[in-house]
Amino acid sequence: MNIYHTVSGLRAEIRARRQRGESVGFVPTMGNLHEGHLQLVRLAKEQCDVVVVSIFVNPLQFGLNEDWEKYPRTFQGDAKKLEAEGCDFLFHPDENEIYPNGMADQTRVVVPTMTDILCGASRPGHFEGVTTVVSKLLHIVQPDTAIFGIKDYQQLAVIRRMVEDLCIPVDIVGAPIARDVDGLALSSRNGYLSKDERPRVKVLYETLCWCREQIAAGEKDFSQLEIEATKALEKSGFRTDYVSIRNAKTLEPAAHDDQQLTILGAMFTKGARLIDNISLALSESPPAEQTEVK
Ligand code: PAJ
Repeated sequence: MNIYHTVSGLRAEIRARRQRGESVGFVPTMGNLHEGHLQLVRLAKEQCDVVVVSIFVNPLQFGLNEDWEKYPRTFQGDAKKLEAEGCDFLFHPDENEIYPNGMADQTRVVVPTMTDILCGASRPGHFEGVTTVVSKLLHIVQPDTAIFGIKDYQQLAVIRRMVEDLCIPVDIVGAPIARDVDGLALSSRNGYLSKDERPRVKVLYETLCWCREQIAAGEKDFSQLEIEATKALEKSGFRTDYVSIRNAKTLEPAAHDDQQLTILGAMFTKGARLIDNISLALSESPPAEQTEVK
C-alpha cells in the first residue's frame, strides 16, 4: 500500500492505473478505523481494481464547540488495518493540502433544504463542511465508485443529491451498518462513552426497531410513535435530539402513503452524540381494506 500526503502525488499514481484500464473505488474517512469502515473497503475491493482510502479529520465539518480537537487520530493502526485489507493507496493530506487558501476563503458546496433538518438542525454548517470536502476529494481521486455507510443516512442522501445536482461522474454506493453484538452501530465516537453508559446505549437501536415493528404492523400515527420513542430514550437516561420517521429518499416527514421509510434517531450521552437509523419498505399494494385509509 502506498501512502500519499499530496494531491499531485496521489493523482499521478491514479492516472497511471487508470491508463492501464483499471477502475478506481474510493472510501473517504476521518480515520480511527473500525469494522464499519473496513466493510466499505472490502466492498470497494469487490467492485473496483484499485482502492483508494482517505483519512482526513475535516475541520470544516466540525462546529466550534464540537470534538475536532479530541477526535481520535490513530494513523499508524489505521494504515496497518488498511494494508491487511488490500487497500492500494492511502491518502493522508494535512489541512494545508486540502485548504491551501485557508478555510475561510474556501469555495463551498451547499445542498440546501435537506441539510437544515435532523442532524443539520443541531449541527449548523456541518453538512456544508461535508459536501465541500467530499466534492474536493471526489475531484482529487476521480473514482468510478465511492462508498459511504448507511450509518450516516442523511450524509449519504445529501451526497447523492450533490452528485446528482452537480453531475459528478461517480457511482455512489451505500454500505450496510456494521453493529456491535448488542446492536449499537459502530462509530469512532463510541470511544467517548463511559463504562456505565455503554450497556445502556443500545436503547437507541432498540427504540428504532420498536418503531419499525409498529409501522410494519400498520401503525400510521407517526407523530405519536416519535413521542413514545423519545420517552423510551429519556427513560433510559439519555437526552433525545430527535426520533423521526421520514421518506427514505427526500427525508421529508413521512406521508401516510409513502412506501419507503427511514426511521432516524439521535441522542446525547455525557460525552457523545450518537446517531442511528433503520429503513423499511411497505408493500406496494396494501390490502383492500386499507386502501380507503388516508
Ligand atoms: P467517518 O465518520 O470516518 O466515516 C467514514 C465512512 O464510514 C462514512 O461513509 C460512514 O458512513 C461510514 N461508517 C461509519 N460507521 C459505520 C458503520 N457502523 N457501518 C457502516 N459504515 C460506517 O463520515 C465521515 O467520516 C466524514 O463525514 C467524511 C464522509 C469522510 C467527510 O469528511
